[in-house]
Amino acid sequence: MADQKDKVVLAYSGGLDTSVCIKWLQEEKGLDVIAVVGDVGQEHEGLEKIKQKALKAGALDCLVVDMRDTFAKEYLSKALAANALYENKYPLVSALSRPLISKHLVDAAHKFGAKHIAHGCTGKGNDQVRFEASITMLDPDIEILAPVREWDLKTRPEEIEWALAHGVEVPATKKSPYSIDDNLWGRAIECGVLEDPWTEPPADIYTMTSDPVQAPDEPQYVELSFSRGIPYMIDGVQKSFLGIVYALNEVAGAHGFGRIDMIENRLVGVKSRECYEAPAALALIQAHKALEDLVLEREVLHFKLGMEQAWASAVYNGQWFSPLKEAIDAFMASTQRCLYGTVRLKFYKGTCTVVGRKSAYSLYDYGLATYDADDSFDHGAARGFIQLHSLSTKTWAANRRQEGAPAELFDARDQVGPLTRGKYEDVTPIWRQVADAEAKAVATTE
Ligand code: ARG
Repeated sequence: MADQKDKVVLAYSGGLDTSVCIKWLQEEKGLDVIAVVGDVGQEHEGLEKIKQKALKAGALDCLVVDMRDTFAKEYLSKALAANALYENKYPLVSALSRPLISKHLVDAAHKFGAKHIAHGCTGKGNDQVRFEASITMLDPDIEILAPVREWDLKTRPEEIEWALAHGVEVPATKKSPYSIDDNLWGRAIECGVLEDPWTEPPADIYTMTSDPVQAPDEPQYVELSFSRGIPYMIDGVQKSFLGIVYALNEVAGAHGFGRIDMIENRLVGVKSRECYEAPAALALIQAHKALEDLVLEREVLHFKLGMEQAWASAVYNGQWFSPLKEAIDAFMASTQRCLYGTVRLKFYKGTCTVVGRKSAYSLYDYGLATYDADDSFDHGAARGFIQLHSLSTKTWAANRRQEGAPAELFDARDQVGPLTRGKYEDVTPIWRQVADAEAKAVATTE
């Protein structure tokens, strides 16, 4: 019997890169390859077809895993709780799928007794970091291989030549000039003409959203109901979170909502021009925030904003399984306990506007807010409140306004009339101390 080869589990997409990876891992590393294809809601040519491709390229086995439901329930739900937008714009599309795929890669490695896991990411992006950081946190003993980072097939023609020479099927269709990654939460489009930040994205890069100019002339209203911060009903019809994401991608996409064109800071230190379309993600985050505005106590809401940024950065940077991200999840979960209610959205020509919100846990008090006769706000209390609220800064201002105080210590002086800095002899002893200290400090730095 021939020697048993070591095994490697490969994150397989069906594209040329990962197909070449299969052969390369066999030939260059002498490993048996188990391919894993994750369905996270991306556009694809057919999962069975992808599986056959992996086997044809020489994989020992190919697991096709439908990850969509888990993706929605365990990943997108947490992103929504955190209103996660990296750099206040990007809803973390790719950053959310990598840890889930990693989990399945590690599971497959354990199942097949593989010591290695491989991915097809380049050395310049965030995705390599996310895969490797996730895999390492799930099983520190697994050795990670990144063929694309290692081989010297610099250009696509070189890669095709290698593929043909090694019997790897090469796609017949011309490759799109863009690098695309997509899933339920949206679609990322990079490269090609987009690498010039001054060039407007060509119309054909978008597939989930229609051009707002061509969107329907009639607005469309959508009502979303939430339970513990997760949407469970759309226009009065109960659906799974996954079903709601699909439905909203359709509606919001048809109205041309959800496009993003941004310059983004990658973890590896490179600024890149990124185009995204994320119709459901952006609409859901907007609706979710509107409900939080109504339900969350002010200090919780304000504190949460900072936590949201921390969560988004951690996940962007591949820290999904880290203790920090887990701790922030616990905070987020606590804020979502009373997040029940309904939000009404209006889609129109590339926009999504919140036009209504209601909740049994609403902290909006009509009596406190109204300027009508029903007003129950204690206006008299405002006077004392402002006195004490301003006491500390009032004390500060009075100190700086004293005769002889150095004018530069009180930058607001221009607004209250000029304060002149009296002659040294005229100044009170306390301010002479300040002047002496200043003179000494200047002398020592000269
Ligand atoms: N810049 C985005 C991110 O880092 C998108 C990455 C898309 N990946 C890709 N292979 N095209 O999350």
